[in-house]
Amino acid sequence: MTMTASAIRCPVVRGRQSAARSTVASVTGAVPGSTGLAAAHDGEPQLKIARSSAEPFVGREEARAELQSALAAARAGHPQVVIVEGQAGIGKTTLVQRFLDDHRDVHLQRANGEQWEALVPFGVADQLFRTVGQAGTSVYAARDNVLPVEEPVSVGSRLLMLWGEFEDDEPVITVLDDAQWADLDSLRAILFAIRRVVAERVLVLLVVRSEDMQRIPDGFRRLGDGPSGRIVELEPLDVTEVQALTEGLGVKALPPSVVRLLQEHTEGNPLYIRAILEETPEGDWSTWKSALPAPAAFRRQVHRRLEACPLPGRQLVEAAAVLGLHTTLATAAAVAGVSESLTALDWALRSSLLAAVGSGDGVVGIEFPHPLIRAAVRQQLSP
Ligand SMILES: Nc1ncnc2c1ncn2[C@@H]1O[C@H](COP(=O)(O)OP(=O)(O)OP(=O)(O)O)[C@@H](O)[C@H]1O
Ligand SMILES: [Mg+2]
Repeated sequence: MTMTASAIRCPVVRGRQSAARSTVASVTGAVPGSTGLAAAHDGEPQLKIARSSAEPFVGREEARAELQSALAAARAGHPQVVIVEGQAGIGKTTLVQRFLDDHRDVHLQRANGEQWEALVPFGVADQLFRTVGQAGTSVYAARDNVLPVEEPVSVGSRLLMLWGEFEDDEPVITVLDDAQWADLDSLRAILFAIRRVVAERVLVLLVVRSEDMQRIPDGFRRLGDGPSGRIVELEPLDVTEVQALTEGLGVKALPPSVVRLLQEHTEGNPLYIRAILEETPEGDWSTWKSALPAPAAFRRQVHRRLEACPLPGRQLVEAAAVLGLHTTLATAAAVAGVSESLTALDWALRSSLLAAVGSGDGVVGIEFPHPLIRAAVRQQLSP
């Protein structure tokens, strides 16, 4: 939900954290994970980070322990559901992959939600069946034989049977990554199956972007919160972990003050940290303190939004970027020279380039939902 200037007049002001999260998500939403960022590197100057044969992996000890203990419970005949959630690029897929790499003595069944396939009925269920060697055609065939309302039930029953067949020798791990883009029919089918397991040795891992949690049926969250479930929330990397990541990527020891800045600037997001390190020539580290850059792919997203924003809104955003991460509407409007400040703010809020943080005493505070948005706007102003 985007906050509008009229909402400020009301005044209804959201908590800072949630405003920031959803707005950044909408900017990063079009940056499809690390692959998209990597593709955006083409033709741009970048530091060749020494890639060791093993990619660095830092932190996440607690999350790994949670997954480990869920698998142990599943092995003992207590079926488990784990929801791994966190913002885009925070490391959900990487965590799950590391966990799976450590546990090869299982039947692995996996599927990925895909933004463009979110409306394909049973697209995800089809993937799940195919990864264990069962053609998805019978899933679709089943659709001809039952009433539409029963479809998730029949597909869910099939999944249940499959788990029953496989778990005899080894436990089953069913992974659904990017579940926020899974089609609803598949989600219902999976939910139907999970709710009926009794003593099957099954661990279901649902990987979801926190900003899109509302796309997942409530039943999953209830299971995650229940006695046979867990919700593993991935937090930003802390300064020590960012330090370890930069070293793991082969970047010569950065001064602690730069590491701290990098952590704040990226809000501890490994995807952004990697992209910035890869794109910035080593000689530029020392000049970073004044203005850290935004990753190129992120920058392009912000620039597109800026260009689509009507002029007063754009001027307001640019003035705010010069002033800092936080300022007041009155100050930014004065610097931008815009007279209709609330209209300009409305445009900026709709573009998710600014967030309103308070309207106490008649003073409207504004801020960038993420430091990288400000960095991208500043880079646009003085490339
Ligand atoms: N713990 C970690 N240590 C080091 N690098 C990491 C870690 N977690 C993630 N990364 C790196 O960060 C990048 C993004 O990670 P990943 O793709 O797992 O994020 P994600 O949360 O799955 O994002 P999305 O929501 O877009 O799917 C990858 O390049 C990955 O190598
Ligand atoms: Mg992922």
